[in-house]
Amino acid sequence: MNLRDHIRDVPNFPKEGIVYFDITPLLADPKVFQYTIDMMAERFSEYKADKIAAAEARGFIFGAPLAYKLGIGFVPIRKPGKLPYDTISVSYDLEYGSDSLCMHVDAIAKGENVLLIDDVLATGGTAEGMVKLVEKAGGIVSGIGFLIELGFLDGAGRLKGIANSHLLKL
Ligand code: PRP
Repeated sequence: MNLRDHIRDVPNFPKEGIVYFDITPLLADPKVFQYTIDMMAERFSEYKADKIAAAEARGFIFGAPLAYKLGIGFVPIRKPGKLPYDTISVSYDLEYGSDSLCMHVDAIAKGENVLLIDDVLATGGTAEGMVKLVEKAGGIVSGIGFLIELGFLDGAGRLKGIANSHLLKL
């Protein structure tokens, strides 16, 4: 099965000149979605982890079923103001400006191994922010798994020293 056939290119979204890789056809086909999670389990289980953490919104789509499949816990990383209990937060750089990510203070125990999951590695800003957050909590990032890596942006260059891989490179 070629996952690329199930990702739709949408030109000029969210702005002129950008091609957006739309994963909704992949999600809508049960066989393709199952295959994607199965492939993630096969490829990313080498990053021995006690938990998976992923950022809203698209990270949740892959992180939660993968945690179920691997039989480990899932930790939601969210934008400010969404989590109900005490949180820790980090700010991370975007192409223009910065943003923040939050996690519950007790979501990750000291020394716990965490696998980070996201749909796309673009500039690497989000992944870098997630790493900072897990490390702030005392956890260890054992690896990062992406559905898609956008090769032309060199986001991987920003994840120095942290094992990472992807199912598709575009
Ligand atoms: C997208 C995507 C990744 C991130 C990748 O999320 O799901 O999390 O961008 O880009 P980066 O490597 O340049 O940080 P987005 O912020 O669009 O939010 P969404 O998941 O809620 O759509």
